[in-house]
Amino acid sequence: MNETVSLVDYNTLLHPYKAYKYLRDTAPVKFEPLLSAYVVTRYDLVREAIRDTQTYSSEYDGFLAKSQQIAFESAPPDVQKRLLELNQAMTPIPPTMLTLNEPKHTLYRSLVSKLFTVSEVKKAEANVQAVIDEKLTNLTSRTQADFVTEFGFPVPLRIIGDRLGIPEEDRPFFDRAATAAASALRLSPLTPQQLVERAETALNLQKLLIGLVEARRREPKQDMITILANSKLESLDRHLTHGEALSILNQFLVAGHETTTSTFGWGMLLLCLNPKIQDEIRGNERLVRTFVEEALRLESPVQGLPRLVTKEATLGDTKLKAGDMIMLRYGAANRDERQFENPDEVDVQREKAGMQLAFGSGVHFCIGAPLARQELNLGFLSILDKLKNIRLTEGYPAPEAEPSFILRNLPHLQISYDFR
Ligand code: HEM
Repeated sequence: MNETVSLVDYNTLLHPYKAYKYLRDTAPVKFEPLLSAYVVTRYDLVREAIRDTQTYSSEYDGFLAKSQQIAFESAPPDVQKRLLELNQAMTPIPPTMLTLNEPKHTLYRSLVSKLFTVSEVKKAEANVQAVIDEKLTNLTSRTQADFVTEFGFPVPLRIIGDRLGIPEEDRPFFDRAATAAASALRLSPLTPQQLVERAETALNLQKLLIGLVEARRREPKQDMITILANSKLESLDRHLTHGEALSILNQFLVAGHETTTSTFGWGMLLLCLNPKIQDEIRGNERLVRTFVEEALRLESPVQGLPRLVTKEATLGDTKLKAGDMIMLRYGAANRDERQFENPDEVDVQREKAGMQLAFGSGVHFCIGAPLARQELNLGFLSILDKLKNIRLTEGYPAPEAEPSFILRNLPHLQISYDFR
């Protein structure tokens, strides 16, 4: 490891933890030319930046738009023409929570928080458990399975579809579109054909969701879209526009589904690699909760997100100026030995395991965290209730992350197990 360490080379994307340690120890705020951003890897500095929303702004839409613009410009003229047509047909999406600062951020956040109150989350528990039980039969009908495709992927997708109130007949399309929306955050290069397909899917998803917002205004039901469609923005005393509702729903799909899938996958891999833990935490809600926090800490599904520097500042020893971008690395902060003892080990007895930053912190702290934790805690409790001696299936390549600078996803995990 040396000065030329880059977080965006292929092997480091797959295995970033050595590079993170090197950066924490030698250059915790380091300029990465390929990203045109300063990468922040130490826990205290990541937290300092998250907390100081005056200096480190979340209004970084331009950073994401730049990568879309590059993809657009490199497409052939006929593809560009089609993309422009699709773009014109789309409802414009204003920033709502993730990429807004206070006080506008607070306006949307307080409306959306109605969806995740303790009582709303509790009310959903029976449904969450029912989905888990149903998808568990994908595992219990055999003794070997790809855990991600059979359980980790379908459970959060089904639950978010149920909670939003997506009609059964629209599920196959919704499932495809939600998956495509999440993959947008991977910032992976796409072929021109994929670009067009993604834009068409995004347009059809908009049509489906706007139709549902309107339908729930006419006839409310017991679901999240009903609450979103009929609540008013407090100080403005008006309902959400279509664009605002789409922006919020889009964030649920981008931020909420694949991240939970990832944690199921990485958590299961940890159980396979540390078999004693399976018996240690089985049936113990408190230990399963700590285990889930450890899985989130060790393999943070959102490895990092940017912030835009608004004024001259010093972070660590690095001087920054207005207009600079920083890239917070939750995944690096979560393995910082200055914060967590034996940071590379899963410790189900760890005190303050909840200090991990996989959900961020401060005003943008993940609003869906109560739902994600509910799914993961109930999911692992139920799996361990039914299965034992869970292990990697022999004869398959070692499970490997999907290369992405933003998300850390485990697409496949072949496991074998015995029944209890
Ligand atoms: C394990 C699962 C999840 C992880 C690791 C995760 C991670 C994160 C992180 C790191 C942030 C903070 C962004 C920042 O610092 O700017 C965030 C925000 C957010 N998350 Fe999650 N998330 C998860 C699940 C969910 C779910 C289930 C939903 C909704 C259904 C959701 C919706 C959101 C939204 C709307 C925001 C923006 C909040 C704001 O800016 O005020 N997330 N999430």
